[in-house]
Amino acid sequence: MARIPITPFGGYLNPRSTEDDAALTSVGPRTPGGEYLRRFWQPIAMVEEVRDMPVPIRVLGEDLVLFRDKSGSLGLVHRHCSHRGTSLEYGIIGQHGIRCAYHGWAYDIDGTVLETPSEPPGSRLKETICHGAYRTHEHMGLIFAYMGPPDQVPEFPVYDTLVWPEQNKLVPYKLNMPCNWLQVHENAADPIHTAYLHSIVTGVQFTPSFAALPVLEFMETPQGLLAIATRRCGDNLWIRASDVILPNIAQFGTGFVDGEKEKFALCAAFTRWITPVDDTHCWVIGWRHFNDVIDPRHEGREDDIGLDKIDLMGQTDERPYLERQKSPGDWDAIVAQGPIVARAGENLASTDKGVALMRRQVRAGIRDVQAGKPLQQPRFHGKGVTPTYNNETILKVPQRDGDDQAVLRAFGHKVCAVVLNSDHLPVGERQAFVEKAVSDMRDSGAFYEGTQASEPKKEAANV
Ligand code: FES
Ligand SMILES: [Fe+2]
Repeated sequence: MARIPITPFGGYLNPRSTEDDAALTSVGPRTPGGEYLRRFWQPIAMVEEVRDMPVPIRVLGEDLVLFRDKSGSLGLVHRHCSHRGTSLEYGIIGQHGIRCAYHGWAYDIDGTVLETPSEPPGSRLKETICHGAYRTHEHMGLIFAYMGPPDQVPEFPVYDTLVWPEQNKLVPYKLNMPCNWLQVHENAADPIHTAYLHSIVTGVQFTPSFAALPVLEFMETPQGLLAIATRRCGDNLWIRASDVILPNIAQFGTGFVDGEKEKFALCAAFTRWITPVDDTHCWVIGWRHFNDVIDPRHEGREDDIGLDKIDLMGQTDERPYLERQKSPGDWDAIVAQGPIVARAGENLASTDKGVALMRRQVRAGIRDVQAGKPLQQPRFHGKGVTPTYNNETILKVPQRDGDDQAVLRAFGHKVCAVVLNSDHLPVGERQAFVEKAVSDMRDSGAFYEGTQASEPKKEAANV
């Protein structure tokens, strides 16, 4: 932004900008951002939301109706009838498709007009019309939609964290946020907030370990970026490396880490999308993972996960306002940025490298779509399982005299580099491979190499 001269009491000179970056934040049909997001499968509902009545739903700025017909097939169609526009939320669900209540036109789930009963016998009107419809896909309690060009449907990506560890249980959830999708997604690339918002400024919201200021690093991955926060917890170092996946997906570790026990988890506690409802509303929608690797002490609370709820403080507006003012959570901080962040008024700082990188990646994707180029994501390996990079690693690497921050940086970087470079391995072998490589590095003192923390020892040995 154009900076103004430093002027105490100079608010008049610096009216808050309301300008947003529409290329990034727009989600409607034929907008740059909307065209990009439409190239991917997007989760739009929990399976449990679709029962025996049509569900009016708004996705990517489009008014739609979601229903399950009596043959069990899901339909996602334009809300307004192709005849004279009444809403199909009042439609009657049939064996195949849905029938408009107003004049009885019936549509199959692919938009085929099955009947126009008010027309004379022999009328071929229905052959000249196709109602707007989108493909859907059900996976582990969530309903996904593909709303892009019908001749460019991508394979549905099954991320490795969904199939490993083998006993992993996926519990779906969906939360509402009344703001643009991008600012919610940016939060995933902003790990420093986990120290300030979740501890230092507002009191401990997750565990006291989050209050330790992390050393940050951001690494590009084939699918987006890894936001790496490395903290010291006594003799242990803790990496919380969050996987930010293009265009609007992120994975995270748990909120319960105390840093006391060694841990190596190349998997996630959360895999979630930020699906735009329209330019100023979105859903946080995805799964919580339950398995012994990511949550060995079984601290997750499955009963607190689902529609409008998650077992992590501050992710909804359900707490009283005064309580949220005293200790605002992610929901409060992000929604309070405004319906759409006015990015022209920001002053990005050194901790915002991940946010800036993520924006560049999204912008590059938008440009690729505009130029008609194939997208690089999702990226598949082998039998359709897509490798990802989230990891929660705690290892004993005691502090030495010297530059401990450099040790933290080396630890975060070296562990995550192995995670990145092992993505060709089959999903069942990768965790063991990385765990061994990381322990070997620890045993050889690799995390102190090249940092001043290793030098006092060498000098002492030379005397
Ligand atoms: S408006 Fe739907 S059939 Fe007439
Ligand atoms: Fe947060």
